Amino acid sequence: MSQIQVTSPRRCATKQNHNHNFDLSFLWKLLSTIFTALLAVVLLVWLVLRPSKPSLSVDQASLYRLSLSDTSLVNSSVQLTLRVSNPNGRLGIYYDEFHVSASYRGQRIADPVSFPPFYQGHEDHDLLSASLDGNNLPVGPYFGSEVAGDQVEGKLRVNFAMDGRFRWKVGTWVSGKYRINVECVTTMDFGQGSLTGQLTFRQGSQCSTVL
Ligand SMILES: *[C@@H]1O[C@H](CO)[C@@H](O)[C@H](O)[C@H]1NC(C)=O
Repeated sequence: MSQIQVTSPRRCATKQNHNHNFDLSFLWKLLSTIFTALLAVVLLVWLVLRPSKPSLSVDQASLYRLSLSDTSLVNSSVQLTLRVSNPNGRLGIYYDEFHVSASYRGQRIADPVSFPPFYQGHEDHDLLSASLDGNNLPVGPYFGSEVAGDQVEGKLRVNFAMDGRFRWKVGTWVSGKYRINVECVTTMDFGQGSLTGQLTFRQGSQCSTVL
C-alpha cells in the first residue's frame, strides 16, 4: 500500500511535467506567431508612413478668355491638363476627392472643378483635363491695372490650386484618408500682346505639394 502511495505522486509529477513541456512549445509557437504578426504590422506601417507623395504638375494650360467689366466682375475660360503620377512601386492610390481652382494674384478667376474619384496603380501616370470657367466673379479694384501691367511685361502668372483626399493601398489593405494640397504657378505668354486671343503656358510650372 505504502509503495503505491509513493509511486503515484511521482507518476503524477512526470505527467504534469509532460503537460508543462507541451504548454511551453505551444506558448513558443503562439509567441513566435504574435511576433511574426507584429513584424508584419510594423513593416506595413513602415511602408505606409514612408511612401513618396503623389506627384502633380501642369501638363498644359491655356487661357481662352479673361474679360473684366467696369464693375470688377470677371469672365474667364481656362483649359487645363494636369499630370498626376504615383511614384511608388508597392503602393496604389485611391483619389477620393480632387478639386482644382484657378487664381490670378490671389483672386479667384474661375469656379473650382471636381474630378471624379479614380484609382492609380503602382508607378502609374494619368492626365486629367478640365475646363474652368468664371462667370461674373467679383475681383479686387486693382485687377485691371495688374493685368495691364503684366501685359506690358508680356507674361501672366496663373496659379492652380489642387486639393484632395486620397487613400494608400498596400496589397489588399487600404489606409485611412489623407489630405493633399498642391499649388502650381504657371506663366502664360501674351502672344500678340492682347487678351482677346488664347494664352498658352509654355514654360514649366512650379508646384509645391503639402500632405
Ligand atoms: C460675362 O458674361 C455675362 C453673361 O455670361 C455677360 O452678361 C457679361 O457682360 C460678361 N462680362 C464681361 C466683362 O465680358
